[in-house]
Amino acid sequence: MKAYFAQLEHAMTRTPSFDAKLAQCVHLMNTAGMSVSFMDIGATWLSCTLPVKGGPREVLLRAPDMAEQMKQTAYLGAIVGRFANRIARGKFALDGQEYQVSVNNGEHSLHGGAQGFDKRCWEIAERNAQRVVFRLFSPAGEQGYPGNLEVRVSYTLTDDNAMRIDYLAHTDRLCPVNLTNHAYFNLAGEGSEKTGLDHTLQLYADHYLPTDDALIPTGELRSVLGTSFDFSRARRIGTGFLSEPDQLTAGGYDHAFVLNPEVTDGVSDAAVLTAPQKDVVMRVATTQPALQLYTGNFLAGTAGVSRAYLSYDGVALEAECFPDTPNHPEWGAGAGMLLPGESYRHQTVYRFEF
Ligand code: GLA
Repeated sequence: MKAYFAQLEHAMTRTPSFDAKLAQCVHLMNTAGMSVSFMDIGATWLSCTLPVKGGPREVLLRAPDMAEQMKQTAYLGAIVGRFANRIARGKFALDGQEYQVSVNNGEHSLHGGAQGFDKRCWEIAERNAQRVVFRLFSPAGEQGYPGNLEVRVSYTLTDDNAMRIDYLAHTDRLCPVNLTNHAYFNLAGEGSEKTGLDHTLQLYADHYLPTDDALIPTGELRSVLGTSFDFSRARRIGTGFLSEPDQLTAGGYDHAFVLNPEVTDGVSDAAVLTAPQKDVVMRVATTQPALQLYTGNFLAGTAGVSRAYLSYDGVALEAECFPDTPNHPEWGAGAGMLLPGESYRHQTVYRFEF
């Protein structure tokens, strides 16, 4: 793996990043021979190689180098925040005060705004052979958000081939917080001809959030029963693809699935993604209430390490709170909000079997 790490690192440090400095990469390896790589820009999960039969297999999509990394708008592997997913018109009210945050997706705010956490250089606060902790300070007013925010994201590679992501954040003022990782998986291999749609998916979600044309949730929690959103039994993602208006709006799946409460303990399977040839299985566990299933509907044209990606080349399963929660008090007061003195604490685990 040494040569692979060196090549990846060379590509990401060939030119400076957003902060005019060279990125720093970190590589972790477990006793089973699985390895993962990260960089400080966006606290990005760059690589995940599984020692499958026939040699190591890269299962994450990534940019070929830093120049392309800076151009892409797919959020490949990045930590997104301060508020992952969309906030309608970038507006919300807190304690009677109106806030306007950065708008970067039509008239809406996506993934924290134009200069989200994905573009920031995170500090490497701690590291050892199987764990790295990234730290970020987001000052009050950044991208329009109130409150200073201290964030720590730790990635731990366990010996049972799980990548655990722990999120911790504190604020000094009430503010919306929603942090996730935006990795795209192709379990057949990054350079494979198989697409995300060839994978099999099981989701422990009885409801999903339908959206309007701009992909803002309408507020309804709709039952998946009898729809193409029903993944309660494992099935190929491509079966029933683009078969219903809710998918046509999004060009595929780009929806929050409401995880059944009993699976949000951070340990139980919330989703199971299986490779087209069934030789790799990825189990997702999380403490978050929702999983955004995104089939890479806007991926076309994104430069990838093996080639230019096409739409649907990878699948993102983003664990997060419901999109646009600050504007949906009916979903439960306080959802997606962090109070001073409280801790934002979440955990998402991607465990691989091969
Ligand atoms: C999220 C969104 C998508 C898209 C991608 C990035 O998954 O829901 O609509 O913006 O990020 O391209």
